[in-house]
Amino acid sequence: AGTGQAPSLLAGKKVVVTAGPTRERIDPVRYVSNFSSGKMGYAMAEAASSLGAETVLVTGPVGLRVPDGVRAVAVESAADMLEAVLEEYGSADVVIKAAAVADYRPKTVHPGKMKKQEGDSVIEMERTTDILKTLGERKEGQCLIGFAAETDRVAEYAKGKLERKNLDYIIANDVTAPTGVFGSDTNVVTLFGRDGTEVSFPATEKKELAMKLLRRIFGGEQDDR
Ligand code: CTP
Ligand code: CA
Repeated sequence: AGTGQAPSLLAGKKVVVTAGPTRERIDPVRYVSNFSSGKMGYAMAEAASSLGAETVLVTGPVGLRVPDGVRAVAVESAADMLEAVLEEYGSADVVIKAAAVADYRPKTVHPGKMKKQEGDSVIEMERTTDILKTLGERKEGQCLIGFAAETDRVAEYAKGKLERKNLDYIIANDVTAPTGVFGSDTNVVTLFGRDGTEVSFPATEKKELAMKLLRRIFGGEQDDR
């Protein structure tokens, strides 16, 4: 491969990346969320853009700088993220769902700040919409790439999600790996493809890993340069 080849790998393609956590409001001053740093998603967006893709980053609240050339759409909740992603989906070639979407949200959002003497200590929750599953059901040729953070039975659970959500690839990480995942600059993952692909990547800096993953998926290369 010549040096001029890599930047055009995704030329003419529109890639939508989601990143970061979602926040689900309890009342005007409180929310339910998770520890996602957004780093892996931002790295995927930066890599897609540097490979020539028109890149849209649908991002939950994180303090990261948006990579040059990437269009960011800021969202808060899982419902906001679903709406923003659907808005881009029809014209997308690839969707990469690196966001840690909340699985549950408070059933009602209190209009005023909740007082501790009011009622009991239970907040009733309901399921959010599975964004990726929704995209899988409405797929019209887009390449769908999910992430799965698991603590055990990593391959089994990840492949289950690949099937259930009608994905083309899923990138699984073992969150118990000693190198850490949340907030870390490195990540250890295995890429599973609908086509039977199964490639493990050793602990790698997230920006470098993002590039290797996209090259492996779209470059048709067997190595991971
Ligand atoms: N995902 C999504 N919408 C949700 C939940 C998850 O789009 N409401 C996406 C994530 O962005 C990720 C993939 O689905 O790309 C897998 O997320 P994960 O939390 O690992 O799987 P779940 O299907 O939520 O299953 P569980 O949390 O029970 O393991
Ligand atoms: Ca989940």
